[in-house]
Amino acid sequence: MSAETPSVPAVDPWVARDVAVVWHGFTQMAAYPGNVPITVERAEGRELIDVHGNRFFDAISSLWVTTLGHRVPELDAAIVDQLGRVAHATLLGNGSRAVVEFAEALAAVVPVDDAHIVFASDGAAAVEQALKIAFQYRANLGEPGHTGFLALGDAYHGDTVGALSVGDGGFGTTVFDPLRFPVVRTPGYADPDWAAKAVAAIAATADTLAAMIIEPLVQGASGILVADPDDLASVGRACREHGVLLVCDEVATGFGRTGRLFASEWAGPDFRPDLMCLGKGITGGYLPLSATVASRTVYEGFLGEDLGTATFYHGHSYGGNALACAVAHRHLELLDEWHVLDHVTEVADHLGARLDESVVGLDGVAAVRRQGLMVGVELAPPAGAERWGRRVCAGAVRSGVLLRPLGDVVVIMPPLTSTADELDRVVDVLAACIAQVWAEDAEDVG
Ligand SMILES: Cc1ncc(COP(=O)(O)O)c(C=O)c1O
Repeated sequence: MSAETPSVPAVDPWVARDVAVVWHGFTQMAAYPGNVPITVERAEGRELIDVHGNRFFDAISSLWVTTLGHRVPELDAAIVDQLGRVAHATLLGNGSRAVVEFAEALAAVVPVDDAHIVFASDGAAAVEQALKIAFQYRANLGEPGHTGFLALGDAYHGDTVGALSVGDGGFGTTVFDPLRFPVVRTPGYADPDWAAKAVAAIAATADTLAAMIIEPLVQGASGILVADPDDLASVGRACREHGVLLVCDEVATGFGRTGRLFASEWAGPDFRPDLMCLGKGITGGYLPLSATVASRTVYEGFLGEDLGTATFYHGHSYGGNALACAVAHRHLELLDEWHVLDHVTEVADHLGARLDESVVGLDGVAAVRRQGLMVGVELAPPAGAERWGRRVCAGAVRSGVLLRPLGDVVVIMPPLTSTADELDRVVDVLAACIAQVWAEDAEDVG
């Protein structure tokens, strides 16, 4: 790994070509060239390599998807092997061997009773499916009054209209408010009493609810807000007692990030979501795949006559892509064969200790929150200072560590196989960048 400052031509022709034709998500394109983006060409292990040959440690796992690293020979081979059979065959009305084999393996490890799995391609689509399944389930049971959803403050569930509706806004999405359907909302994990308030709302509104949706243990996009597992368990119990379906959105937390395969597991063996949404790390970060996992009870609510109204009339063209399922299957095996969760526990403890030592207590740092290898460093810019998250992360990128902020929260979400040395480097670079930005603003004020 190179610790040298990456070099980029003064006018990067790749950025010029990029802005001429590509429109990047969650990115102000007018500012894009000025924010010194990198143009990735290839990767090795946990490093991305740009078109100029500069190396960057991928400290955000390519937006929280990469788990074992890039170009893992075993994962590459799984795709090549599947390519020699078939790349894709529709799941609408027919089956696909790679999908059956992966679904069997996934059903055996998810904390959902007798899992049945609907596949899609992105996290938001998995959420959308879960909302529609919950809604139709109650209708199929002849309980049409159960049409509402309970969701938490600070929630983020994706960008499609249904997912936006259960999400709590922010991220510049206020313009879409007229498109959002109303939900019952109780505070998120930033409120220490969030669980008691959610339990009270469940009791008060159960008659009107199709489901409650929650990001178990960690609200990621709102800046890595972390809940107590006992609180999570109490909400699960309340849903069960009041007959409200519980949808756990594990798009960000699934596949080892929190130190367990699924964050729901932290709430104990009795915590059994009725529906679970998976995405991001499901293929180790290789191909777009997501899944909505339903319990047998929910699944059976849709059984009926051929072409009848009980059917779930929903499905995406690429849902259950064979290449994606083949790599997802091998990835699940490798998580086990390589004892990845043990490694996460070990290096996450190391990362926590290093953050306590070098980042907590720095001028300009308000809080450091962590669960496993999901970390949010909340910055506390001096009054009047602007774009701190952006400036700190730009400094890290110049030092060869790829970070991206959520506002003024710097998220560190390294691949699960990261070494202690790599994490040391991330912490050292981040601490130096925060100190640098603090010093620049102190000079300005002076
Ligand atoms: C909890 C959660 N749900 C859903 C999504 C949306 O996933 P995707 O971006 O794959 O649509 C995200 C993305 O960050 C997420 O964190």
